[in-house]
Amino acid sequence: MADPHRLCEIVESSQGVLVGLGPVDVVIIGFPGNKFTGQIAPAILELVENRTIRIIDLLFVSKDSDGVVTTFEIADLDPEIGPSFLAVEVSQPGALDFDDAEEMRASFAEEKDRNIYSRFSNPSTSEFIQKICALEGAEDGFAFASGMSAVFSTFAALLSSGDHIISARAVFGSTHSLFSKYLPKWNIETTYFQIDELDELESLIQPNTKIIYAETPTNPGLDIVDLERLSEIAKKHQLILVIDNCFATPYLQTPIQHGADIVIHSATKLIDGQGRVMGGIAVGNKELIREIYLFSRNTGPALSPFNAWVLSKSLETLSVRLERHCDNAEKLAQFLEKHAAIHRVTYPFLDSHPKVHIAKKQMKRGGNIVTFELKGGIASGTQFLDNIQMCSLSANLGDSRTIVTHPASTTHSKLSEEDRLAVGITDGLIRVSVGLEHIDDIIQDIDQALTNSKA
Ligand SMILES: Cc1ncc(COP(=O)(O)O)c(C=O)c1O
Repeated sequence: MADPHRLCEIVESSQGVLVGLGPVDVVIIGFPGNKFTGQIAPAILELVENRTIRIIDLLFVSKDSDGVVTTFEIADLDPEIGPSFLAVEVSQPGALDFDDAEEMRASFAEEKDRNIYSRFSNPSTSEFIQKICALEGAEDGFAFASGMSAVFSTFAALLSSGDHIISARAVFGSTHSLFSKYLPKWNIETTYFQIDELDELESLIQPNTKIIYAETPTNPGLDIVDLERLSEIAKKHQLILVIDNCFATPYLQTPIQHGADIVIHSATKLIDGQGRVMGGIAVGNKELIREIYLFSRNTGPALSPFNAWVLSKSLETLSVRLERHCDNAEKLAQFLEKHAAIHRVTYPFLDSHPKVHIAKKQMKRGGNIVTFELKGGIASGTQFLDNIQMCSLSANLGDSRTIVTHPASTTHSKLSEEDRLAVGITDGLIRVSVGLEHIDDIIQDIDQALTNSKA
């Protein structure tokens, strides 16, 4: 049997595959599509046969005239291990190589399910997609370079000129720009509904309506949409329900279980959770994802394999991070509710939230975003930001560090004042993306900034 340590060196250096050494077993961490050639192939297969390697279903085992295995490829992961235990290597190449002309022909003809070119698919992005599908309960997915490319590609793939969208009025600023500025270029119009007035939504449906779109909780108003009610309406009228689940993550909320057809994420936020990479993903119904895939493989918004690798690792800590984020956010919201300098605090799980009963029905916990309205409006808002010492001032959210923002002058500045007020973004609104620091430090920084901001 090959020496596992030697194996580890060879594999890492010549094949670019990560090998981990467990206490009793050698665990090769590979991925469907990984190929092993040369001397390493028979050595690994020997380990597999001796059951010291916990992968696998092998595909493409070729042998030479003496019956010695020369090449094999991993076809599937061992379901007993499950993808969440695996850290695959970063599969960086743009194009993946083929054994012969027939394999190449069959792959392009989609007779054979394998990676061809990283604009279409890649082992690292596939791992990330599989993990999000498992968490969201989705059939399939496609991973994107950013949340906005996931949002845009979903609309572009599923809609035709002349189609109509019904969207919640309160959506992320760039999504709003897509509806108001860009989709109309292709004769796709959007009508908005108020989250509080779901009973009136049906009256907005037109013969050409194709999609109902919403975020919940919304950015930055933290409004909550009743997912079950929305999906009843979508199903009754055979419309596609698309939900941006960015603020909740699949750890706190799984919209597909409440009837959504497609779920979108900006993975740049809580999924990465450490402000390192950008990414996005759309998961859901297999036929709809197929349309999104075909559009995307031709237009090129795919997630980079390196970012997919980072995001896959991030998912391994998602539950731990989210529990701490939520603990901190709850404590901060309770502290702010009693603060004299503050007019109004919003957090989905506070009893004072108008939709707390729906939030508790469809979310596990309240998330990491808290918003509040400063007494004194825009002037004390600016002073407050300038007095912050420990927290970061940044346009991001969902980072391990607490981030304080002023939506009216940043993320939603492109909206008219009227549109901003219609979604609850007042001049004095502050959004806190509560991080993983010690809660006492977060409260102390925000408290001192509030005290020093009293005009
Ligand atoms: C709810 C929501 N959706 C989509 C996006 C866009 O994501 P990205 O910045 O990754 O393009 C954001 C960004 O903040 C967001 O908050």
